[in-house]
Amino acid sequence: MLDLPAEALDETSFVTVDVLLHSQTPRARQANVLVFRYQGRVYAYVNHCMHMQRPLNCQEDAVFDAERRWLRCSMHGFIFEPDTGICRSPVCEGQALQAVKVAEEQGLIVFKEKQLQVLAFHPAKVAPGQNHD
Ligand code: FES
Repeated sequence: MLDLPAEALDETSFVTVDVLLHSQTPRARQANVLVFRYQGRVYAYVNHCMHMQRPLNCQEDAVFDAERRWLRCSMHGFIFEPDTGICRSPVCEGQALQAVKVAEEQGLIVFKEKQLQVLAFHPAKVAPGQNHD
């Protein structure tokens, strides 16, 4: 269970969560999942840029561009549609981040994947240039 209070994740922050995917199967593998809110809705993707196999926030604590229109990998700046995970940069165009099912229920953000085990939670980050004041 993620059990993150929904109010803790606003449009300016994101969290990352270490999880075990396919936790009940021989295919079990550890992954870091990026969770954020975009235009009011919560999304989650495996935090793994397909360009050079890095987390999107590997170079700085940011996963969006300055206008918060695109998810943006901090390594080389490749951009992704926040609501689909599809890459819009030429080298990886058409490939997509792996989506993880997530929902808001009774004031909590919860993972909806059947075989996912939360290993560690990394608190909300504030996007650069934005703050909660
Ligand atoms: S590793 Fe993500 S853009 Fe290069």
